[in-house]
Amino acid sequence: MELAALLTLLLFTIGQGDCASAATKKDWWQYAQFYQIYPRSFMDSDGDGIGDLNGITSKLEYLKDLGVTAAWLSPIFTSPMVDFGYDISDFFDIQPEYGTLEDFRALIKRAKELDLKIILDFVPNHSSNESIWFKKSVNRERGYEDYYVWHDGKVNATTGEREPPTNWLQYFRGSAWEWNEVRQQYYLHQFAVQQPDLNYRNPAVVEQMKRVLRYWLKEGVSGFRCDALPPLFEVLPDAEGQYPDEVVSGATEDSEDRNYLTVKYIENQPETIDMVYQWRTVLDDYQRIYGGNSSVLLIETYAPAWFTMQFYGNRTREGAHLPFNFNLITVMEEKGLSAGHVKEAIDLWLNNMPAGRTPNWVLGNHDKRRAASRYGKEYIDAMNMLVMILPGVSVTYQGEELGMTDGEISWEDTVDPWGCNSNPSIYEQYTRDPERTPFQWTSGTNAGFTNGSTTWLPLAADYKTVNVESELAAEESHLKIYKELMALRKSSKTLQNGSTKYWVIGDDLFVVLRTYGDEDKYLLAINFGSKEETVYLPDLADRSLFRLIIKSLGSELTLGVWYGDLHVQPAEALVLTDVLHIYPNP
Ligand code: NOJ
Ligand code: MG
Repeated sequence: MELAALLTLLLFTIGQGDCASAATKKDWWQYAQFYQIYPRSFMDSDGDGIGDLNGITSKLEYLKDLGVTAAWLSPIFTSPMVDFGYDISDFFDIQPEYGTLEDFRALIKRAKELDLKIILDFVPNHSSNESIWFKKSVNRERGYEDYYVWHDGKVNATTGEREPPTNWLQYFRGSAWEWNEVRQQYYLHQFAVQQPDLNYRNPAVVEQMKRVLRYWLKEGVSGFRCDALPPLFEVLPDAEGQYPDEVVSGATEDSEDRNYLTVKYIENQPETIDMVYQWRTVLDDYQRIYGGNSSVLLIETYAPAWFTMQFYGNRTREGAHLPFNFNLITVMEEKGLSAGHVKEAIDLWLNNMPAGRTPNWVLGNHDKRRAASRYGKEYIDAMNMLVMILPGVSVTYQGEELGMTDGEISWEDTVDPWGCNSNPSIYEQYTRDPERTPFQWTSGTNAGFTNGSTTWLPLAADYKTVNVESELAAEESHLKIYKELMALRKSSKTLQNGSTKYWVIGDDLFVVLRTYGDEDKYLLAINFGSKEETVYLPDLADRSLFRLIIKSLGSELTLGVWYGDLHVQPAEALVLTDVLHIYPNP
């Protein structure tokens, strides 16, 4: 054999070997199924109509049964609950209405017994105005003077009156600056008035927040979901200490809405990327010192791909394990649901992701309309299939496995600050309460969420049919489909490690193919259009025929049947696996 040919053969063999060993070396989070719990709305154990830690502990077996690897809990820390826990007054303790530190330890203990990992929400951008840090900063106590972003403001040349330093707007409508009488200065709050922004240009703040991470790691958590990364840093002031105004964006006429202005100076500054690398170091150092499994950073970032991808790390530094991929939410929000737009959303992540990183797919969270309401109820199985057939990690928001839809929330019932800061004629555009209604466990009183007589938000109207109890009892249900997908994902080497191809076929058929050497192939077909679409499967995958193994609710096809020509009805979604090659490759 010629040397070149021998080398090629060797390389090929090594390449194959590498692939298999890389697969076995994967860390737990690289093929995990993450599940977001919104504690206030998951399960109430003490009848006050508010979900709590003991409620969560009592339902950990449900998560195990689903096939979940790790549960991320939205904030459970001491809070006046202006932003339902995202306004933290004590980062080192538990909100009393949710339970105690002992309850939390019991939760962690039970989770460990079930081999479930618990991830906490880390809210670095701001604290509550009731935090002791803020109170000390207001009083300029030593060491706390610059804990927050304080500024004298400007004097208006015509009126002679004091004004906020800039025109910057908060997320929840209105100015991002609030005057403080005691300190006689403005403070910055990119969220509600009661959520002052911490000052990350102060090393003491950086160190304090690292203490928060270490504290909860010590309590046995497996990582963090990092909240609100875009506003972590603002641009540096100029030599006179002045910040620049943002320019009008043209996106909306409503001058209270954050989108009224650009966010060039108040979002996505390069320093934020470095801060994430620093947090990663905290986690990795912790593991180096104390051993145990690696803990993960999932980060909430809304930014263009070129910026987002840097969070993964670079050649010399590791960053977030998983910067959340919201493309399946944002691209569809902007352009509507279609096979082409789904492809665009997937391309946007996979074509920009640095080599060797793990992709992830998010369908919803407590800030976005529920998936079944946003994509349409008929697409909930399709979308759950999509995120579990695509490579990498899936993130489920509680209730997506049931096809839960948004609750209807009147102006009177609205409690979300974003809604409350608007008015009765526009609040529906802003309030996030509809996606936060209580979880639906049964068709009984208060959906089995509480034994009490009230719930902190009204239940969604469909709870009598859309709930765990009914869906487990039914012969076919969204929940059963979800569980089958999770089980498949867990057992299949192809889904965990294989390569991925995807196409738009015909007008609106979306097809994903996963292959991995000689392992089983998997194919997903979803018809996003309004007429039947047909695909000839052997043309896509090595002349193979495919057997139907999972189908969306309402599909009239028969499981177990082999297909060459596959006819897919509108909103139908099908998962198939290859059975045989009908003739050799030409
Ligand atoms: C993002 C969270 O997901 C949202 O619920 C919260 O209001 C803001 N960050 C502020 O912490
Ligand atoms: Mg309770």
